[in-house]
Amino acid sequence: MLELKGLKKTYKQGRTSINAVDGLDLRIDDGELVAIVGPSGSGKTTLLQLISGLDRPSSGTIHLDDIELTSLSERRLTKVRGESIGFVFQQFNLIPTMTASENVQAAMAPFGLKAAERKERAQSLLAEVGLEDRAGHLPTQMSGGEQQRVAIARALSNDPKLVFADEPTGNLDSETGAEIIELLSNLSKERGQTVIIVTHDTAVAEATPRIVRMKDGKLSL
Ligand SMILES: Nc1ncnc2c1ncn2[C@@H]1O[C@H](COP(=O)(O)OP(=O)(O)OP(=O)(O)O)[C@@H](O)[C@H]1O
Ligand SMILES: [Mg+2]
Repeated sequence: MLELKGLKKTYKQGRTSINAVDGLDLRIDDGELVAIVGPSGSGKTTLLQLISGLDRPSSGTIHLDDIELTSLSERRLTKVRGESIGFVFQQFNLIPTMTASENVQAAMAPFGLKAAERKERAQSLLAEVGLEDRAGHLPTQMSGGEQQRVAIARALSNDPKLVFADEPTGNLDSETGAEIIELLSNLSKERGQTVIIVTHDTAVAEATPRIVRMKDGKLSL
């Protein structure tokens, strides 16, 4: 369970300040698939950064089960993030000189697995996203949709409780984008993972069971 209470992030820029997230209350249950939508600048990315502990809120609390994230030290927060959260980005962010398998394996570096175990695990994750026969391909040798699947396999390497995807279909055509959303949705069902997708795409949002709308840092109807 993820629960946000009175979450607020104020950015100060000279004499002006911007409430990028402005007193937000939100509860997301385990295994939910949620789309966060809203106009540019409404605070979606800021919200994801706060929940994932990449940025600290100005006030408010974030409970991930019984852990209150804002009270953790930087060290503990990094540990929670490494163990519990997976990220998928609009630009895929794969390492261009590494194959699909190596990209997924690189994310397992902190787990202390043997090389053979890493390789086997990467292969099984790639199979889960439908890419068992692309393990040896470099990012430039794959389509955008395939690269995003590799990025999803990489995000799953720590078997995270939460998966965050910020505009995961932003660089894909609508059909490929729909396939990526279906994949995220199936993973959420099969693995019981909570998946939070930030999107501008109304078709993407409509394919998810729950839509959270943001405007000016607040929830809107
Ligand atoms: N590091 C920062 N310093 C100052 N202001 C910031 C910073 N990051 C974001 N902002 C401001 O906070 C507001 C929310 O930004 P955010 O990136 O969260 O929006 P968004 O909903 O993700 O937009 P988009 O759909 O364009 O990605 C914007 O007004 C932005 O200018
Ligand atoms: Mg954004």
